[in-house]
Amino acid sequence: MSITRRQVLAGLAGLGVVGLGATAGVRYWLGRPLFADTHDYELIAAPADLELVPGHQTPAWTYGGQAPGLELRSRQGDWLRVRFINHLPEPTTIHWHGIRLPLEMDGVPYVSQLPVLPGEYFDYRFLTQDAGTFWYHPHTSSAEQLGRGLVGPLIVEEAQPTGFEHERTLGLKTWHVDEQGAFTDFSVPRQAAREGTRGRLTTINGERLPVLELPAGHVVRLRILNLDNTVTYRLNLSEGDARLYALDGNPIAPRPLGKEYWLGPGMRIDLALRAPDDGREISLRNGPLRLATLRGLATSQPAGDWPAPLPPNPLSEPDLQTAETLSFNFEWAGALSSPVKTGGFTFWQINGQAWDINDKTCADRPIARLKLGQSYLFELRNMAQYQHPIHLHGMSFKVLASNRRKIEPYFTDTYLLGKNETAKVALVADNPGVWMFHCHVIDHMETGLMAAIEVV
Ligand code: C2O
Ligand code: CU
Ligand code: CU
Repeated sequence: MSITRRQVLAGLAGLGVVGLGATAGVRYWLGRPLFADTHDYELIAAPADLELVPGHQTPAWTYGGQAPGLELRSRQGDWLRVRFINHLPEPTTIHWHGIRLPLEMDGVPYVSQLPVLPGEYFDYRFLTQDAGTFWYHPHTSSAEQLGRGLVGPLIVEEAQPTGFEHERTLGLKTWHVDEQGAFTDFSVPRQAAREGTRGRLTTINGERLPVLELPAGHVVRLRILNLDNTVTYRLNLSEGDARLYALDGNPIAPRPLGKEYWLGPGMRIDLALRAPDDGREISLRNGPLRLATLRGLATSQPAGDWPAPLPPNPLSEPDLQTAETLSFNFEWAGALSSPVKTGGFTFWQINGQAWDINDKTCADRPIARLKLGQSYLFELRNMAQYQHPIHLHGMSFKVLASNRRKIEPYFTDTYLLGKNETAKVALVADNPGVWMFHCHVIDHMETGLMAAIEVV
């Protein structure tokens, strides 16, 4: 992982150019596109007090002055350029979850870049090859940084117009705050060894139990993102007519939402919902619990039909005839006498190897080396009674089969591996680099459940 100090120097030199410090004012909060049609953003991470609990302030960390962060947008086939400026009191990076990009832009400290120090900036720029609903977040001190609010949606619009005329982005997060809005522990070892540390205040776009007004009778694209560290939301819209159009950014043959969709941390769905009639309300729920009220509001436009399926993304189809099989066992390591090396806890491991977030050299010892261009079949085996949303950077994979449920094969970047489930997924190793492969329950990832996969 040869990273030079060049990036750091560039960052320091840049301070004069953008004129931060004394002159930093309101305009830096806007994170506005600098040139609207080339998707250039200036995005600042900085502390800001948010009123998550009415009448109380929460000392959040924000992207563009808000949490969830500013919604970034690009178009398929275009470049996205983001000048990222760190005004936090500690180093950070941005990882672009689900985006297939070159390693240097992947935002993993000491693997793809050096951390962006307070006062520095980093220019992220990459081609957005796939349309869909993605998101961004740091890959440093994740429990705290994501916990404090550094999570934001990244929408890549289809190259051609789709049949959707209306859309809404719904970012789900369950904050670790008490009744006064003060942060509670982002990570409790006892919980990290189990399902992960849960927050208590469930919000959509930072709001508890919002009421969303939708054009009555029209089909609306709901982009629902799980931006939470821990919680798997069991989404249902039982009173509404809703169809799934994409999973984790990748289009599928549309099908009814069904009884419930389990959206694990890091996962997204694109739903088409026929909005209720004027004045009628339906609930979006997590299991039995209401997340939001969706209310129909009369419009003068005539309602359209269900849109055609979304066009597929340009992903390579794995060749199962020649694919090499690799097994990955996700295990609890708490019972093993894993030495507490650098002060952290080790509760989880992949194939007997636990990642140590304090050891900068872990990525030098990848758990697997894949040959560029070759197809692979991964057998993902959950040996534990807690579920793991398994996520891979840099490449999308195709989910083929599970011993626990019926699978319509689909491409994704995150698969929710249920308790004691074994799943088969396949991919073409078509992106050279060292790619993180981890559970997206942040507590699990930070206590061992992460590895690097190298493609050469
Ligand atoms: Cu959302 Cu390592 O990623
Ligand atoms: Cu990712
Ligand atoms: Cu996990």
